[in-house]
Amino acid sequence: MEIIIESGKIEEKITELLSLGLFEGEKEPTGIIRYIDTLLDGAISDTIKNGDFTGELNQTLLLYTHNKIKSRRLLLVGLGKREDFNLETVRSASGKAALQVRNMSLSSYMTLLYGEDFGLPIETLTQALIEGAELALYSFNRFKTEKEKMPKEVKELTIFVQKNDNIALVQKGLTVAKIVCNATKLARDLSNSPSNDVTPQALAEVAKSIAERYSLECKVLERSDMEKLGMGGILAVSSGSQQPPKLIIMKYKGGKESSPIVLVGKAVTFDSGGISIKPSEKMEEMKYDKSGGAAVIATMQAIAELRLPLNVIGIIPATENLPSGSAYKPGDVLRHYGGKTSEVISTDAEGRLILADAIAYSTNYKPQAIIDIATLTGACVVALGTHASGMITNDQNLGKKVIDAAELSGEKVWQLPLWKEYSEQIKSEIADVKNVGGRAGGAITAAAFLSKFVGNCPWVHLDITGTAYTQEGSIEKTYIPKGATGVGVRLLIQLLRNWS
Ligand code: BES
Ligand code: ZN
Ligand code: ZN
Repeated sequence: MEIIIESGKIEEKITELLSLGLFEGEKEPTGIIRYIDTLLDGAISDTIKNGDFTGELNQTLLLYTHNKIKSRRLLLVGLGKREDFNLETVRSASGKAALQVRNMSLSSYMTLLYGEDFGLPIETLTQALIEGAELALYSFNRFKTEKEKMPKEVKELTIFVQKNDNIALVQKGLTVAKIVCNATKLARDLSNSPSNDVTPQALAEVAKSIAERYSLECKVLERSDMEKLGMGGILAVSSGSQQPPKLIIMKYKGGKESSPIVLVGKAVTFDSGGISIKPSEKMEEMKYDKSGGAAVIATMQAIAELRLPLNVIGIIPATENLPSGSAYKPGDVLRHYGGKTSEVISTDAEGRLILADAIAYSTNYKPQAIIDIATLTGACVVALGTHASGMITNDQNLGKKVIDAAELSGEKVWQLPLWKEYSEQIKSEIADVKNVGGRAGGAITAAAFLSKFVGNCPWVHLDITGTAYTQEGSIEKTYIPKGATGVGVRLLIQLLRNWS
């Protein structure tokens, strides 16, 4: 969608539809909306007086303007109560407006910058407005051949800015928003893609082409490299598949010689469970098991575009997890990169096995932080539901940074503890650790397993099993269509933008 910024006289603006946001429970519109209401002989305030429009969040009402202003239609959008207004309100209401516009088959519309005079920073307000619209209008059509059954494209959005002083800030917000939205959509595309299309090889090719386009460094370790390096986890998990595993390494150098931040993303392009095979019901959802890796690839693209003054390395272990005569088996003992051993209790707890190699490898860079992101455990969904990702850390300072970024991005996280008791559950009789610690506290024992491979680096683990794609328990959000959400991308970008 093309996004244009305009200012001037609102009544002179020619557009199919002008969207404006109103707070809940306020009898009279104020500011520019009051001005528009006057030009329309009270058409807006009438809807409020008569109870047709209350301003409840995401409520909408369409009005025709009968040439009293040059915009043909008005779309009133509820912003909820003034005291609850925040960036998430803006994403939500803006997403709702965009969906209404698309349902009406309009190809362009104009919007006021909701809450322009509310007092939130204009740059972030603009970013939220655009995120809401762009991400709501996302749809995954690559495998649809009947054009008429696809949603119509909204081609153009014009943001009307009241105060001329705000234009430069809106422009800044727009630049960031485009980069953030493109990255989120890339992550959604990769995650939504079926496993016969996006294989580990295909992911590596995407990473390479991004690296070329945005001048990142990209290196892909092949099975033979992994054998030399002793990456027993990823080698074992991939051994049942015909698809060769890849360890994708993307490097962005935007900072001085300072030590890097490493992002590690789980990319199991299909998780059947392996020999510990999953039930067939909903097994198709296991294409989403590459969502962490997709988020890291997309984040690398965004930070390169944003030219952040940091050094960031993305590491994506990519493999399938399938059963076969050559597959790894329960009871097997694996030797990970760096030498630690693990006993396989379940071949379905494969994520932690490939992350162990990737995380241990990442400590070679002496990073200031390691952040891993993975659809790691169903237990995390049991603990937190689908509304927040699980966060576990060995460094409360770093954890605080992630919590702050979550607040700003609207991608909620909730911290779970990493007390040493949990490590007791993963003690093995014959190896250093075992890959399952029983049913109790499954999200935490998975993290406890990973913690054995981080050395003394500050580290945060994000379990996105409940948030990576819409599933049972997900509540509909206007800007999150069914399927992959791209979760983590906006959170990680925000975290890295805040870093310096
Ligand atoms: N990829 C799954 C986690 C998952 C579950 C993702 C549901 C999406 C939806 C992970 O590899 C897995 O299978 N974890 C097991 C661990 C168990 C065997 C200790 C789980 O959560 O059941
Ligand atoms: Zn699994
Ligand atoms: Zn998995």
